[in-house]
Amino acid sequence: MPKLTVDGIELEVPQGATVLQACELAGKEIPRFCYHERLSIAGNCRMCLVEVAPGPPKPQASCALPAADGQTIRTDTPMVKKAREGVMEFLLINHPLDCPICDQGGECDLQDQAMAYGRGHSRFDENKRAVEDKYMGPVIKTAMTRCIQCTRCIRFSDEVAGTPEIGMLYRGEDSQITAYLEQALTSELSGNLGDVCPVGALLQRPQIFELRPWELKKVPAIDVMDAVGSSIRLDVRQRQVMRILPRINEDVNEPTS
Ligand code: SF4
Ligand code: FES
Repeated sequence: MPKLTVDGIELEVPQGATVLQACELAGKEIPRFCYHERLSIAGNCRMCLVEVAPGPPKPQASCALPAADGQTIRTDTPMVKKAREGVMEFLLINHPLDCPICDQGGECDLQDQAMAYGRGHSRFDENKRAVEDKYMGPVIKTAMTRCIQCTRCIRFSDEVAGTPEIGMLYRGEDSQITAYLEQALTSELSGNLGDVCPVGALLQRPQIFELRPWELKKVPAIDVMDAVGSSIRLDVRQRQVMRILPRINEDVNEPTS
């Protein structure tokens, strides 16, 4: 098991862990958009930058870097702070600042991380791009101008749902997430895309303009509609169930045997 230090804290991490996981084990918060513990590693948002020695003298994406014996990892240096601010500024070049009318407002990773790791202004004053919305089935509402191309939705539909129905078209600033051939998503798991998307690009259609997260009471529950009784969370407003989200419970949701 590799032994390393994170911000001066010595620890041993499991073989095969990444630098991001090592930082988490040391109790350090690493901002991220594309990384998700249940999906393959894409390493494309660059938000998880940290400083690692030995290595090149530049910030490195911790989610895609294997933890190795003798590494010294720093998550709080001026270089890391500046790099995070730069990535955040870059992500916000095209992301519309429409939080007041966005249904993700109040539970948006981009909003939270812009507050915590961004700088208060942007040096870009070019026009923002606009992307046409896509039809992604009866339960998902799209606002694709908000997409930050983290590709979580693509990896989820490919690797978890087993229905590779979403992909990315074009390159650079023209990149767009779309359902192939503009066909609707047919998977019964497509509702999870609203949960997987870290910004307000993919939203649960029934909740559109209906609720704000701070109005809801979160009630742990069991899904009586599936055979294994998956753990879920009911978000309730007064006596009305407003939406249903997945809840982490490894023993039931991810049985190993
Ligand atoms: S739609 Fe959401 S999950 Fe998919 S790539 Fe864009 S930001 Fe990521
Ligand atoms: S979380 Fe590491 S590059 Fe996106």
